[in-house]
Amino acid sequence: MKQQIIMKLLTGMAGLGMALGVATAHASPEQDKQDLIRYFTSKYPNVKVDDYVYGALAFDPDSKAQYDAIMEFPPFDSQIDAGRKMWETPFKNGKTYASCLPNGGKMIAGTYPMFDEAKGKVVTLEDVVNDCRVANGEAPLKTSDAKTMGALSAYMRSLSDGMIMNIKVQGPKATAAYEEGKKTFFRRTGQLNFACATCHVQNAGTRLRSELLSPVVGQAVHWPVFRGGDTLVTLQNRYTGCFKMIRAVPPAQDSTVMNDLEYFHSAMSNGLPMKASVFRK
Ligand code: HEC
Repeated sequence: MKQQIIMKLLTGMAGLGMALGVATAHASPEQDKQDLIRYFTSKYPNVKVDDYVYGALAFDPDSKAQYDAIMEFPPFDSQIDAGRKMWETPFKNGKTYASCLPNGGKMIAGTYPMFDEAKGKVVTLEDVVNDCRVANGEAPLKTSDAKTMGALSAYMRSLSDGMIMNIKVQGPKATAAYEEGKKTFFRRTGQLNFACATCHVQNAGTRLRSELLSPVVGQAVHWPVFRGGDTLVTLQNRYTGCFKMIRAVPPAQDSTVMNDLEYFHSAMSNGLPMKASVFRK
């Protein structure tokens, strides 16, 4: 079985030369994104770039129709409501999340992850929420925890629905972090020796076992997802799952490696609209 999958991936890599061109060192994020879009649209001229936000569903009209039906009455609404309650509950000092986030926390998700010059590192939206908690005398939440940070971020991210992803990479330190994330995305690793790009660039739109693979462009705009309708999965939870799939030891969530990866990965969705909390298989 394993052998079969590997063979399938190898045969799927006829376009490898070009896709490796994608990993050009020190290209700008916009150039990297355009290279990827050119690669995908030449392979799949009938799939609209705007539809990449639907991930693998963009390549499968039947599953997309099922998705649309589920999204009319999302089975995970109660979890988002739990997140809303957390968001609205004041801290012990009477302050709220809205009082310490830019723009009251609305229409900001599309600018995260962000390179924080003062800290000299990439910060995610979840890091900023934790900074807000700590500044107000509360303990930080575990960023990978679905019940707390997951639900809270599901609600908070819904306040940015419709915002256009706009990750900025400016200055030498931000660029270095972006390049690190890009390396992680293109570096082969794990016992199966795959890179993220093996599946989500070279083999996007093809099947791995029963699963259609989504293209990297559009992957970052719709988090968290609810797998099977009720299991909340954050973006970094998903990265962890994909690292495990290729039998690599996943970097710790909220580590520099993961946050730099999220920085690069999110920039590849620049220009696409955000929509928090969607159904996934
Ligand atoms: C062996 C193939 C494989 C590799 C390598 C792989 N993934 Fe995945 N990934 C999948 C499959 C299968 C899914 C579920 C179907 C889909 O949405 O593509 C998935 C889903 C995802 C999703 C969710 C897409 C969505 O819209 O729900 C993200 C994000 C993602 N992967 C990121 C990564 C990152 C980052 C890496 C590198 C650390 C990586 N993947 C490596 C197979 C892979």
